Amino acid sequence: MPVIACIDDLKQLYRRRTPKMFYDYAESGSYTEQTFRENTSDFAKIRLRQRVARDLSGRLLQTEMIGEKITMPVALAPVGSTGMQSPDGEIKAARAAAKFGVPYTLSTMSICSIEDVAAASPTPFWFQLYVMRDEDFVDAIIERARKAKCSALVLTLDLQILGQRHKDVRNGLSSPPKLTIPNLLNIATKPAWAMGMLQTPRRQFRNIVGHVKNVGNLSDLTAWANEQFDPKLDWSKVRRIRDQWGGKFILKGILDPDDARMAADFGADAIIVSNHGGRQLDGAVSSISMLPSIVRAVGDKVEVHVDGGIRSGQDVLKAVAMGAKSTYIGRSYVYGLGAMGEAGVTKALEIIQKELDISMALCGERDVKNLGPHNLLIPRDFEGDWVA
Ligand SMILES: Cc1cc2nc3c(=O)[nH]c(=O)nc-3n(C[C@H](O)[C@H](O)[C@H](O)COP(=O)(O)O)c2cc1C
Repeated sequence: MPVIACIDDLKQLYRRRTPKMFYDYAESGSYTEQTFRENTSDFAKIRLRQRVARDLSGRLLQTEMIGEKITMPVALAPVGSTGMQSPDGEIKAARAAAKFGVPYTLSTMSICSIEDVAAASPTPFWFQLYVMRDEDFVDAIIERARKAKCSALVLTLDLQILGQRHKDVRNGLSSPPKLTIPNLLNIATKPAWAMGMLQTPRRQFRNIVGHVKNVGNLSDLTAWANEQFDPKLDWSKVRRIRDQWGGKFILKGILDPDDARMAADFGADAIIVSNHGGRQLDGAVSSISMLPSIVRAVGDKVEVHVDGGIRSGQDVLKAVAMGAKSTYIGRSYVYGLGAMGEAGVTKALEIIQKELDISMALCGERDVKNLGPHNLLIPRDFEGDWVA
């Protein structure tokens, strides 16, 4: 077993063990991938202030998200087709998160269904909703999430229309995968993945199959999903969904202070500063560079969360010190899942927790709740120079 010291080690192992088309699906951004790259590279521009000669005993990483107690300021972001990265991937990720004490968010576009995950997860999870044109489907899936006792609804706002990822087009990505000769040859080199997939019945979008009319076979399914994202999603629909759900409500995909103010006025419990991991509007700025102006715009009106490019505990520290109440990881846990299944997701969380703890101590802090701008050195031109 190779030594795993950091998230990048998990990524290397994930690359070896998972079919190329699914590795490419996760490890890509839209178009030129500028936003995807800058989500991570902008973290490197922010520096931490080293402080010394302080009592560093009894450190605390625990905090809350939307009133839920969590072991550290990290949640698992919704990631579509996680069950193709590892057989029953959503169940494995949900279990790892529950045991660790951080929230897991199940995507609408998951392979395991809401009911599959509810039956396997020891604690309630969050459900991420994509608004589809088919209103009956949307109504029904909200009710299914309620019945499964999901403790928050995360409504994604930045994918009404799909950005193109060139690698997916070239790989003929679909769920289940198109059995082209290159894909078959590649899958033949990943025997553990293939065996696991043969042994599980969960190989297609189970939130959808059997829950919409006219989607009987698998090619109908991919076509249905791609055409269904609702281009008419606007604030009036957001209100309707908020009222229909009635529980904890998080708006995901906010990258502009004006939209952040709108979301806060809507009474959302939290917003997620996000550009969908650089998979939608290529050319948009990184999430971390927009975080300070969004925090300023909303003040205490709404909890601010952030995702995009987090690959270490130091990144989590920077985001929290810049005003995020908490963060989400997407690819960092997918690497762990593809590398080692549930144990790999746990490993990713452990790595980030340890890095966060040690880096926080070296900044002279004992409690994650005390982190703030005083822990950072930010270059003058880092943010605030974007001219609308
Ligand atoms: C492979 C993949 C699939 C994703 N699927 C979804 C999804 O179904 N719903 C959603 O709201 N966001 C989705 N996202 C975006 C993530 O929730 C999150 O915003 C992003 O991964 C954060 O960036 P990071 O991967 O750099 O941590 C996806 C991201 C990836 C990488």
